[in-house]
Parts: sequence; structure tokens; C-alpha cells
Amino acid sequence: MGVDEAVLDAPLDRYTLKSRAKPQPALQNSAPKIYVEPAVDPVKAARVACEGITSREELKNAMAAFKHCELKHGARNLVFSDGNPSARVMIIGEAPGREEDQQGKPFVGRAGQLLDRMFASIGLRRSSESPEHSFYLANVLPWRPPQNRDPKPQEIAMLWPFLEKHIQLASPHIIVAMGNISCQALLGERGITRLRGKIQNRHGVDILPIFHPAFLLRNPIAKRETWADLLKLKAKLDAS
Ligand code: URA
Ligand code: URA
Repeated sequence: MGVDEAVLDAPLDRYTLKSRAKPQPALQNSAPKIYVEPAVDPVKAARVACEGITSREELKNAMAAFKHCELKHGARNLVFSDGNPSARVMIIGEAPGREEDQQGKPFVGRAGQLLDRMFASIGLRRSSESPEHSFYLANVLPWRPPQNRDPKPQEIAMLWPFLEKHIQLASPHIIVAMGNISCQALLGERGITRLRGKIQNRHGVDILPIFHPAFLLRNPIAKRETWADLLKLKAKLDAS
């Protein structure tokens, strides 16, 4: 991680070399000899990369070409989305895990199987072609973090312009924010235990935070609250 170029087979200890260059005397009134590349602001770079994008295909290409996120180099695949992009519901998870990274699709591992069962229980399936009976799925981060560590705040911030654009393009009626990382990205705060089950409107779109299915696998007792939250989602969809 972080190493992007092999220059020599073995390290070279320049301190032991005989012909060490003598320090140059400072030159006055002369232009600097070394061009230092200006530091890029990755959040700004992401915003610029999103400018003028009008389709999911273009967005996916822009994400694939984005150079400022280290996670990309450790991941096998860009995990963009799955499900029906015309669905009324857009589910936003955290980041790909091992299976997702291998297949290039979100929520295909154990947590994903639970997610599919949870949403099937209120009549929503990712493979359905009907906008009323399907959902669309994406993650806050499109690349798997090493050892599934938590995404860093800088990573969430740098990838937010892409997620924001993704939401605009999908224009869901309601977003389901799964777990703390998703709440951090979408609502600017954590505290899923307090936030869950309460619909908040941000920039004209309703957001319903619920527990993350990976959390439910470890804490099956919390499924009871999640069932109540799913019924709330169903009632909201039935009413609109
Ligand atoms: N957990 C997530 O948050 N997203 C996935 O795609 C898989 C597991
Ligand atoms: N922490 C999370 O990030 N998500 C949950 O759903 C519960 C605890």
C-alpha cells in the first residue's frame, strides 16, 4: 500500500555511497530548480470529476479514473451498484467486503443475503424490474478498505461528491442509510441507535437510517427494531 513503483530490486543506502553530492550553496535571485507539484485537494478533485456527468455510466467511468483514493490500489474491483436504478428505494451501505470486492457487486456476502431477506419481507427485490417492487444499492465507498477497516473521514469526504451525484442520477423517493458510516456520509452524524427509524429530509430527499445487516448478524436481538423500521418504510411507500 502506498508503493506504486519498483525502481530497483534492492534498497540503495545513499548514506554509504562515496560520491555523495556536496550541498549546493544557496543561489540568490534564481528560480527554484525543482518543480514541486501543487498539493491537490482530493475533495475538490472529486467535485471537478463529477462536473457535467449526466449518466451512471459516465459516473462509473469517472470513479474508475479517480486517482486520489488509496483504497483503489488495494482493491480488485470498483463496486458501483446493483439492483434497479429506477427503483423508488435506494439503499446505501458502507463499503465492499471480500466477496463484493471479488464480484464487483455490493452486498453479495452474508450481510447481503440478510439484506435481501429483510427487503423481500416488505416486497422489495433487487432483481425486480418494477420501480415499486425493487431497490437500488450502492455504498459510501466503492473500494474495499484493507482488512475491512472502517472508512476514514477523509475517504468519506473525498468520495461524497460521487455518491451525491449517484443519488441525483438515481433520484430515489427514499434512501435507506444502513449503519453509522452511511449516516455519517448522508446526515453528517453517527449514532445509529438514536437515529434509526426516524425519517429525515435532506435536500428534498427522505432518508431512513436503519441498522446495518452485518450488525444484525452479530446482534440478532436488534432485528426486532429493524422489522419495525422496515414496516415504517413500507407504510411510507404505500402512502406515496
Ligand atoms: N457491507 C456493506 O456495507 N456493503 C457491502 O457491499 C457489503 C457489506
Ligand atoms: N454500528 C454500525 O455502524 N451500524 C449498526 O447498524 C450498528 C452499530
